[in-house]
Amino acid sequence: MSRSPGVHWSIDDIPYGEIDGACVRDDRRLFHIVASASFIEITSDLYTKNLVEFFRHDGEIAEWLEHHWEKEELQHGAALKKYVQTAWPAFDWEAAYATFRAEYGAICTVEALAGTKALEMVARCVVETGTASFYRMLSDLSPEPVLRQLAAEISSDEVGHYKHFHRYFRRYRELERPSRFAVMRTLLKRAADVEAEDTFYAFRAVFRGSNPGTPFERAHYDAYRDGVLNLVRQYFPHGMAVKMLLKPLDMNPLVSRAMLPTVTQASRLFLRRYDNAA
Ligand SMILES: [Fe+2]
Ligand SMILES: [Fe+2]
Repeated sequence: MSRSPGVHWSIDDIPYGEIDGACVRDDRRLFHIVASASFIEITSDLYTKNLVEFFRHDGEIAEWLEHHWEKEELQHGAALKKYVQTAWPAFDWEAAYATFRAEYGAICTVEALAGTKALEMVARCVVETGTASFYRMLSDLSPEPVLRQLAAEISSDEVGHYKHFHRYFRRYRELERPSRFAVMRTLLKRAADVEAEDTFYAFRAVFRGSNPGTPFERAHYDAYRDGVLNLVRQYFPHGMAVKMLLKPLDMNPLVSRAMLPTVTQASRLFLRRYDNAA
């Protein structure tokens, strides 16, 4: 794709007309992964409000969150939705999403924020590390070139979000001076807290929408989760995730090496998303 440096991609840059439908049509696992991701991204507005309020006093951050970050997350959802509708046209995306939004909206609680602004920024770095790694993995494993391109675009947005949150972390670290221990604790806690509920609810809504007449059973989800875990073992970019998780700790290379096993453990915690769902 040719684009001037610094110009952000838009949904119109994705060549949906070139999707090689034959190579994804029968891949139920990929269909579920992409459809579930579209549901979760497009629902970003449900859980971003309290973060924006937390930083309302800081004009630059509030402006970025509302006019860039949230917009990009919603565009991820819209772009993935269009991919699903093009690659798997028999699936009624709107109807299945309406079910997801009603069910998940009813149980989705506002995310608890960390105790201070600096620590909340650390937590956000962890979340963006998780999404950046997930889309990197999706891009690497996709047999279909347009999905590979789309997932790579989304992954680089998530890395961009991470960079903003990291920069804001440094600003608030100067003001609040959190201990390295507090930063580490937040990092591990947020990595362990990664919600699995949204994955489960998204899977169930996609399943029901694409299998009318088949009652949903827990075993359907378990089989899917096992399949995704296999992909994760093969494709999850641990090196990238570990590097991103280490950065807010801002340690010299020697300490960094000593912390590596702990942070690697934190990167593994992301996998719980697929291990612990309701
Ligand atoms: Fe996103
Ligand atoms: Fe993001």
